Amino acid sequence: MSPEGKALEALLHENRVFNPPQAFVEQANIKSSEVYGFASKDPEAYWAQAAGRLHWFRRWDRVLEWDYPKARWFDGGLLNVSYNCLDRHLDSWRRNKAALIWEGEPGDSCVLTYRDLYREVNKFAAVLRHLGVKRGDRVTLYLPMIPELPIAMLACARIGAVHNVVFGGFSAEALRDRMNDIGTKILITADGGYRKGNIVPLKENADLALEQAPGVEKVIVAKRTGQKINFRQGRDLWWHELMALAPPYSPPEEMEAEDPLFILHTSGTTGKPKGVVHTTGGYLVGTATTAHMVFDLKDEDVYWCTADIGWITGHSYVVYGPLANGATVLIYEGSPEYPRPDRFWQIIAKYGVTIFYTAPTAIRSFMRSGPAHPARHDLSSLRLLGTVGEPINPEAWVWYYNHIGRQRCPIVDTWWQTETGMILISPLPGLTPLKPGSATRPLPGIVADVVDDYGRPVPPGKGGYLVIKQPWPAMMRTIYGDPERYSRQYWQRIPGCYFTGDGARKDADGYIWVLGRVDDVINVSGHRIGTMEVESALVDHQAVAEAAVISRSHAIKGEAIVAFVTIKDGIEPTPELANELKAHVVKKIGALARPEEVFFTAELPKTRSGKIMRRLLRDIAEGRALGDVTTLADPAAVNKLRQAYAAEEG
Ligand code: WTA
Repeated sequence: MSPEGKALEALLHENRVFNPPQAFVEQANIKSSEVYGFASKDPEAYWAQAAGRLHWFRRWDRVLEWDYPKARWFDGGLLNVSYNCLDRHLDSWRRNKAALIWEGEPGDSCVLTYRDLYREVNKFAAVLRHLGVKRGDRVTLYLPMIPELPIAMLACARIGAVHNVVFGGFSAEALRDRMNDIGTKILITADGGYRKGNIVPLKENADLALEQAPGVEKVIVAKRTGQKINFRQGRDLWWHELMALAPPYSPPEEMEAEDPLFILHTSGTTGKPKGVVHTTGGYLVGTATTAHMVFDLKDEDVYWCTADIGWITGHSYVVYGPLANGATVLIYEGSPEYPRPDRFWQIIAKYGVTIFYTAPTAIRSFMRSGPAHPARHDLSSLRLLGTVGEPINPEAWVWYYNHIGRQRCPIVDTWWQTETGMILISPLPGLTPLKPGSATRPLPGIVADVVDDYGRPVPPGKGGYLVIKQPWPAMMRTIYGDPERYSRQYWQRIPGCYFTGDGARKDADGYIWVLGRVDDVINVSGHRIGTMEVESALVDHQAVAEAAVISRSHAIKGEAIVAFVTIKDGIEPTPELANELKAHVVKKIGALARPEEVFFTAELPKTRSGKIMRRLLRDIAEGRALGDVTTLADPAAVNKLRQAYAAEEG
């Protein structure tokens, strides 16, 4: 999408401003804008102060060592993430405070206090150590949203193992590729998980993946659904059996600030997902501080971020940021619409949720099912709302503000990425006047700008690339196994800057309006999917000769995937084949990547040098006039394609 695209037009007309309510301002964690001035005058002093929120076994020697594009934060410092999220709170009244409130999709639930969570994490850390997992070893987690997932993450952190969470909605093949990419020896999974009233067969998927992941020696299986599964003697072990024998304490490793904490894969512009590496010290400083400022976390809060822990949002703002603050975190296992479209509102009322953080795509589907659902429930406990994952359209923002926040709750529109680790652009809820559709301003200590191809700032109101101009503590350190790609993709595109891959514009007040991706990444329901990944999956099917994948705007999902496919000679382009291809993508990647549409074409528009012109395919899918066609090898073919597509769309 071009930074000057349709989104820009829509947003230009948005000029409402919502000031923070007085009652909120009076109790806010951040009441004064002085913090912005302090952070920009002396960023290192600011981040050192932020690091003071944590417990360090040894204080750092230097805040930042910046050898572009390599950063080291809090070098010389020693700490442990699980110690900061758990042990620390046991010395205070928080020991019996609820850490996790968990609600399963079928309606079962449980509460783990900080003490309970501490005990479970210690035991599981002992289990992992007993199985020979050591500092620096990689461990893959493929689990539903059950307490075992954060427990396993914190246990890895406790012993210095590097976790790699694979979202439970990914397919067996996606799991296999990720395990092989990082060389994992241990997989932690479950028999299944509940989703929309059905069972997701996680162990069955894992078994398929394991057939081609020879490095994996042990598989720990949590019992969630209780359905029958295959169990391979000697390899597979039950979580509950191991835990029954585990000692109650397992000491935390003293980790270097720059030791890796986890690897999380994300989609990029090539077919292969990137293993984004995050570290211990900087990551926890960044997530703990931003959770405190942006979500205004208080001890009395019941905080609910609806993201699956399998995404970065769940890592940073379900698990690490909130727990480092000693917060009460709600986790819900299932679908927002099960058994009815009011499940979220029912949960908010049941637990008295005060802070609610979700994605624009969810808000748009709530809009569609209508305001009567939230209206039936007592949502008066809410005091702050948040969004993340994609640009929020002003209509959805205002609907959220009126029908969920009931005009009392500020909305924090938080911009960030898997790679940034922490929120970088967001309002501070007690300070920042809000404009629907804008993530507003960079947080204290963050220097962001909108620039052209040469890194020159563009004038207010003009579209350009969103870049970050100074390192920040939770930034990714590298791509696992590919440091060269890290430099090239993020730091060489625009001289001297971190390239986000997003287009944006800045208004006259310095507010940033993110417009969406400028590269070949599609944002479906807030999840990043590389067009190349989907193309590789399609071409993998024996009927397909060539495929080009693009996105088209979609009322609920934000963007929908459209695949233009050329099939091999002699094969019939039938609706059945289209469905088979969609299913093939689901098998290769997961349901989240299923194309909305598969369109067969004898030819794809190409330049004379053979490059597929996706820009023209986007024009066709959006029903727009075709852009520049002068470089096309065969201009007539693209017109035929456009007519055929329009005819099929009816
Ligand atoms: C998009 C999710 C507009 C953006 C935390 C970014 C947003 C990509 C916002 C990262 C927002 C995320 N407004 N766009 N508030 N938040 N994005 O890695 O395109 O899954 O580059 O991280 O989502 O997606 P990721």
